[in-house]
Amino acid sequence: MIWLGIETSCDDTSVALVKDGREILANLISSQIDIHKIYGGVVPEIASRKHLETINPLIQEALNVANIGFEDIDAVAVSNGPGLIGSLLVGVAAAKTLAITLNIPILAVNHLPAHIYANFLEEPIPELPALALLISGGHTCLAIMEEHGKFKFLGETRDDAVGECYDKSARVMNLPYPGGPEIDRLAKEGDGKAIKFPRPYMSESKYEFSFSGLKTAVLQYCRKNPDFNLSDTCASLQEAISDVVVRKTINAMKDFNLKRLMIAGGVACNSGIRQKFESECKKRNFEFFRPRPILCTDNAAMVACCAYYEYNCGKRSDLLLDVYPSASWEYYIK
Ligand code: KG4
Ligand code: ZN
Repeated sequence: MIWLGIETSCDDTSVALVKDGREILANLISSQIDIHKIYGGVVPEIASRKHLETINPLIQEALNVANIGFEDIDAVAVSNGPGLIGSLLVGVAAAKTLAITLNIPILAVNHLPAHIYANFLEEPIPELPALALLISGGHTCLAIMEEHGKFKFLGETRDDAVGECYDKSARVMNLPYPGGPEIDRLAKEGDGKAIKFPRPYMSESKYEFSFSGLKTAVLQYCRKNPDFNLSDTCASLQEAISDVVVRKTINAMKDFNLKRLMIAGGVACNSGIRQKFESECKKRNFEFFRPRPILCTDNAAMVACCAYYEYNCGKRSDLLLDVYPSASWEYYIK
């Protein structure tokens, strides 16, 4: 069964063709970073207009890459929230049009579990239950994936997402948008112990995160020290973020007696976080799953994969489906 996936929730237009939930026939991503870079962040109005220009040619290109025709698509999947309302509407309109004209099923999926499903496009497939950590530009959450389509929500960030902390701190240091990959690159040349940034562990709320204070600490440090060492500051920030993310996640693994960990989302590309998880999981004999970087950031293959599994669990949508810009994972799980 070939699913065509569409992802337009933020500033990436992506179309994928995935066979039987596993085999990626095409996964095309048209990034808008060069446009939004000029403004230092995503401009929603520009993002939706750009999706509109890109989506149809990208669908055709995905079919060309996979060397198949419209008649070979069995079903269409689209992420309908959370995200920017104008951007989501473009993807949903395109998906509905395909569903009507090709007379095939349509399934809307939540963007957050879709990120986690990127792990099921890799080898080996994680067995369940497993702990799922989503770290992206808009979200930071921990959940237990008990079985396909069934998550137990543990906690999320109370304020900024971890990717937001990277991006906003990068802005303070005059680094281009998106700041996460820049900080990651510069951190490799710096001393992570040079500056003692706070570790917001919030022991009273074990599975919740808070990153806005850390972002402010970077701002204050850079203001007080105009000649700050860029790579040391990046390395120290990366150290603080990875300490918090890894410790909280490993504690959740222990608390729930889990043996498998999956990470996902754009920040899951981060080399410091990946390395720390690798060594902590090895020490404890936990199986560690992380998608290759191109499947960590926003992409439509994860949407098609998620839809495949959820459809098999009995989930259905119809042409009246709507967009949910602030759909939370907690709501989805209930
Ligand atoms: O998952 P994603 O593409 O979009 C959302 O759903 O939010 O994540 C984008 C986020 C941005 O904040 C970006 O700075 C961050 O992922 N990111 C990274 C790295 N690569 C991307 N953060 C830290 N280190 C990286 N290597
Ligand atoms: Zn995302």
